[in-house]
Amino acid sequence: MASILILNGPNLNLLGTRQPEIYGRETLDDIEALCRAHAGTLGLGLDFAQSNHEGALIDAIHAARGRHDGIVLNAGAYTHTSIALMDAISSAQVPTVELHLSNIHARESFRHRSHIARVALGVICGFGAQGYVLAIDALHGHLERRG
Ligand code: DQA
Repeated sequence: MASILILNGPNLNLLGTRQPEIYGRETLDDIEALCRAHAGTLGLGLDFAQSNHEGALIDAIHAARGRHDGIVLNAGAYTHTSIALMDAISSAQVPTVELHLSNIHARESFRHRSHIARVALGVICGFGAQGYVLAIDALHGHLERRG
């Protein structure tokens, strides 16, 4: 059974109460339940994690090597700043979909740049919690085509 990691970065533990007008009212637990239900219908194994710490996210990406077939990464603000996370993705060579709840391109200009996008399979943003489902579908399609 193919397995994927859904990895969430800083401040995403506060979803539900954090700027709901931007990020929606779903909590991270709600999103985890959504992801688990969807992965189940596709026959995918799923691990779900969150950390506020850049190094812990890097460790999780390294640990995904040989354990998971793909990653959905919402790196939060580290998306815009972290060359170390970008390097972790290129080093681990686990196909990674970049995901954001909000449409980062419709927001402040500092959110328009993504270091992750350079090394991601693709980017999904602006669809709220449903974006996680879209990202799982995108990764699943990629893994199926790759065989
Ligand atoms: C985010 C967008 C980032 O710019 C922001 O720093 C976040 C959340 C999103 O999911 O929309 O923390 O990644």
